[in-house]
Amino acid sequence: MPAKVVVVGSLNMDLVTRAERLPRGGETLIGKSFATVSGGKGANQAVAAARLGAQVSMVGCVGDDAYGGQLRDALLAEQIDCQAVSVVEGSSGVALIVVDDSSQNAIVIVAGGNGRLAPETVAAFDPVLQQAEVIICQLEVPLATVGYTLKRGRELGKTVILNPAPASGPLPVEWYSSIDYLIPNESEASALSGLPVDSLASAEAAAGRLIAAGAGKVIVTLGAQGSLFANGSSFEHFPAPKVRAIDTTAAGDTFVGGFAAALANGRSEAEAIRFGQIAAALSVTRAGAQPSIPSLSDVQAFVPS
Ligand code: RIB
Repeated sequence: MPAKVVVVGSLNMDLVTRAERLPRGGETLIGKSFATVSGGKGANQAVAAARLGAQVSMVGCVGDDAYGGQLRDALLAEQIDCQAVSVVEGSSGVALIVVDDSSQNAIVIVAGGNGRLAPETVAAFDPVLQQAEVIICQLEVPLATVGYTLKRGRELGKTVILNPAPASGPLPVEWYSSIDYLIPNESEASALSGLPVDSLASAEAAAGRLIAAGAGKVIVTLGAQGSLFANGSSFEHFPAPKVRAIDTTAAGDTFVGGFAAALANGRSEAEAIRFGQIAAALSVTRAGAQPSIPSLSDVQAFVPS
C-alpha cells in the first residue's frame, strides 16, 4: 500500500497564454497560443505526489461552475481521493498565466472557491488528516485555514510540510513550531526572512533565520541552481539536474509533491530531495501545470546529462 499524503490547498483553472515576452504595464501584446489547463498549487502538488508513488487525498473547495467539475475530475483521473473537495456557490479559483520565450512566467490568481476553504471545513474532514503520513499546505487558501491545518497536523503527529507560496511577507510566528519542512523558493525565502536571497550564501542566511524562528528544517529551491537544505546544524547544497526549460510553471509544486511522496515512502531526506529535483527538472521540459508533471517511471528512467 503506497504511503498517504494529504494536501490541503488550492485548485485553479490556469488560463495560459504564451508570448514572446511578458507585457509591461499598460502594454498589449499579441500572444502565440492559449490553453486552459488544470492547476493550482495544492492540486498540482497532489497530482505530483500521486504520479510519483503516494496515495493522495485532497482537501479543498471548487466553485459550482464548469471549471469546478473539470478540476475535480482531473484529480479523480489520478486516483486522488476527493471526498474532501467541497463544491461551493460561485466561481472556482483561476490563474491568469503568461509564459515567455525564455520559459519565465507571470501569474495573477483569483481565489474563487479556494477562498471559501474555512478551518471548519478542514475540521469536518479530520478523519482524512488522521490517515495521513505527510500533510502539505501552501498559501492559496485563507491563512486561518493554513494555520489550523499546521497545528492539527502537529497535534496528530504527522510530518507537516509548508510550501509558503505565494508569500508576500513574514509568516505568523506561532506557525513555525508546527512545521517540519518549510519549502520556499528564493523570493518566498526573502519575503519570510526579510533578507535578500539571490545566491547560495544568502539562501543559507535566510534558511538560518527561518530555523531560528522555529521551523524544523528548510529547503530553499533555487531553480537552475538547485536546492539548499538546512537542518539547524548544517547546510547542504543539492545541484539541479541540467535540462532545457520550456515552461517553469508548477516546477516548485512538482518538487514539493515528489519530495513528500518519497519521504512518505521511507526515503531519506537527501534521497527525497534528489527525487523531487529530478521530477521538477522533467516538469520544466513540458508545458503547463498538471500536464507537465512526470510519472514515477519517467523519474526512474532519467539519466543526468
Ligand atoms: O505553481 C503554479 C500554480 O500557481 C499554477 O498552476 C497556478 O494555478 C498558480 O496557482
